[in-house]
Amino acid sequence: MISINIFTKNNFMMFQKLKTEVTAIIKSAKLKDQKLTLICELLKSNVLHYDWVGFYFRNGQKNELVLGPYAGNPTEHNTIPFGKGICGQVALSNQNFVAPDVKAQDNYIACSLTVKSEIVIPIFVNGKNIGQIDIDSNTLNPFTKADEVFLEFVCTKVAYIL
Ligand code: SME
Repeated sequence: MISINIFTKNNFMMFQKLKTEVTAIIKSAKLKDQKLTLICELLKSNVLHYDWVGFYFRNGQKNELVLGPYAGNPTEHNTIPFGKGICGQVALSNQNFVAPDVKAQDNYIACSLTVKSEIVIPIFVNGKNIGQIDIDSNTLNPFTKADEVFLEFVCTKVAYIL
């Protein structure tokens, strides 16, 4: 019980620190895509269970997503039609999607055999779902409410620069 409490507290402190760093990146003088890349790298290198971190955005008025800046192994999935995979479902549902075990998903696009779980959080600008942050993990069932709250914060900050 004690170790769970310490873990939860440490995670909370880690996310608090990362929030400050994300805010500093957003406020920096860099270009938009540089900021997004830095955020991906920050999250991937600091959160142990984040193994691939990337942004997908709506492709103009088309019903598809295109890959934006990311950190991690290159993916073949540069475009994803609305409705396909976890990302495509979030484009339509406007809801967070946590997949604790991707093997249990019947509408899932595999990027790598090492990925065991995934979380996707939509990004809203003026109330419109314009993209998302997508995180793959090589750990089974690693995401908690703390990840969702933190990533919603990141998406809110990112929305300012889009
Ligand atoms: N697994 C995602 C596809 C994108 S990759 O994870 C980079 C999906 O099912 O939509």
